[in-house]
Amino acid sequence: MTPSWTRPIRTTRAALLGLITLAFIACEAPERAPLAPDEVPRAAIDFPDDWRFPADALPVTARNGMVSTTDALASEVGVQILRDGGTAMDAAIAVSFALAVVNPSAGNIGGGGFMVVRTADGETTALDYREKAPLAATRDMYLDDEGELTDRSVLGHLAAGVPGTVMGMWEAHQRYGSLPWEALVEPAIDLADGFEVAERFARSIRGSRTALELFDTTRETFLPGGEVPELGSTFRQPELAATLRRIRDTGPDGFYRGETADLIVAEMERGNGIITHEDLERYTAEWRDPITFTYRGYTVSSMPPSSSGGATMALMAHMVEGWDLAELGWHSPEMIHVLAESWRRAYSDRNQVLADTDFVEVPLDRFVSAEYAAERGADISMERATPSSEVGPGLEVGEGTQTTHYSIVDRYGNAVAVTTTINSSFGSKVTVEGAGFLLNNEMDDFAAKPGFPNQFGLVQGEQNAIEPGKRMLSAMSPTIVTNPADELFFVSGTPGGSTIITTVFQTIVNVVDFGMSVSQAVHAPRIHHQHLPDQLYYENQGLHPSVVEALEALGHTVQQRGGTSGDVQAIMVLPDGTLAAQSDPRLGGTALGY
Ligand code: GLY
Repeated sequence: MTPSWTRPIRTTRAALLGLITLAFIACEAPERAPLAPDEVPRAAIDFPDDWRFPADALPVTARNGMVSTTDALASEVGVQILRDGGTAMDAAIAVSFALAVVNPSAGNIGGGGFMVVRTADGETTALDYREKAPLAATRDMYLDDEGELTDRSVLGHLAAGVPGTVMGMWEAHQRYGSLPWEALVEPAIDLADGFEVAERFARSIRGSRTALELFDTTRETFLPGGEVPELGSTFRQPELAATLRRIRDTGPDGFYRGETADLIVAEMERGNGIITHEDLERYTAEWRDPITFTYRGYTVSSMPPSSSGGATMALMAHMVEGWDLAELGWHSPEMIHVLAESWRRAYSDRNQVLADTDFVEVPLDRFVSAEYAAERGADISMERATPSSEVGPGLEVGEGTQTTHYSIVDRYGNAVAVTTTINSSFGSKVTVEGAGFLLNNEMDDFAAKPGFPNQFGLVQGEQNAIEPGKRMLSAMSPTIVTNPADELFFVSGTPGGSTIITTVFQTIVNVVDFGMSVSQAVHAPRIHHQHLPDQLYYENQGLHPSVVEALEALGHTVQQRGGTSGDVQAIMVLPDGTLAAQSDPRLGGTALGY
């Protein structure tokens, strides 16, 4: 028996939702040993010689449950919740709060995110807890007197949208929670009372040291004594622990009202920010229908607006389906050309058309249809790259980037994919004095000046202009894939700002078109194109020089990135039910199963 069966029903609504919870946990997997990591099938595939992540890496395998996050401590919290009888949703809520403590560059209670859910009985849904523009926000709030963009959408108090994470976790728990709310917040409180500093945490602080010194409270919180926390020392966040206790004890009121809200508003007043008590009290998270589309017989469910992820992925997937990528060969110039040409067209439409559908009309049905993709991709030539200057939007209308993703599957077959962010690394760099958490700088994801690039180089249009209460367009793409038999197959997601959509799509192509193991799919080098700038990016040493030359001969401007791209957390369900997971080695995360 799981706790949800025995837990007292709280309200009539809870009783109704209890039926859904029942669906969420009903079908228990049989007790069989999982495949050993070296028994997991993998594709015969070679990565470029100098590529640092091996093609023969082995996944973590387990039978009963799997958690893959960017941080070992957060993964431990999640897998313990599963061991304690919690569902994937319980684990997802606990992991979200844990990441707010151990991964402050991206994990958060001062930001927002998206969740895609598939229950064991096949129901899919999506939760939008993206930040909203404060009620006092105005279209030109980030322009100076000459109409030029300032850095105020990126740095400081004015950059923050109204945070959504706490309300999102509360809504998730109301609908699908099995263990008590308090039990899911408690592990984060323990971590805020003190955790041992590991290299991953120290590196993230070290890498942003200069920015963290800009605001006194942030410096005092993350650089105690003016220094990067030492490896092996205990890092304590007493003010954050107190905030989490208020959230544990009173749910969203512990954040959106009372002492925490007072501290947020006081911080705003100190730094000329505009978030008010009314903004906090009026914040809502929304359940939405995921964007669902098929790709070579597999069904992909990903995030609808206010994320652009699902719709853009659907458009690019439908265009790409016109070619047999396996026949072209993995990372052949022809395969990369097909991806890049479909991506430049899909991003052109994304940037012009997609936005918060609670505020603007978006022709979403047509955007995600195979018919539109066929029209949109009709002028893709295999002989030459189409310059982005020749690729206007095809439709008319009437995430140093830090975000983090985690994937969880439980023993019952429920799956949760979550991508959450405060936008830039350490968000606005403003820590709420007395409350111990960083505020996001998500307002930069609006088109602060339509037609001009944001920090990700995305050139977005009027649809995504700032309006009070509107959610800024995101690229975050938590994604769940089922196989042609409609069985859970693959859970994936990543940070990476504008590269999120192409990264998640590449993991799907890797497993669907090329039969890669989950480890190969995550380890494989990545490429990216986003229409503007008109450049085809690849990870450092991620393409063979002859492939680069062939792409240049087709007319692509090919650009090697300084480092790597993304931090995918992926779980694959193998035909015998084994859960195989790979946490991206690029940032040093951890997959744990049991
Ligand atoms: N802040 C990055 C994104 O939401 O896409």
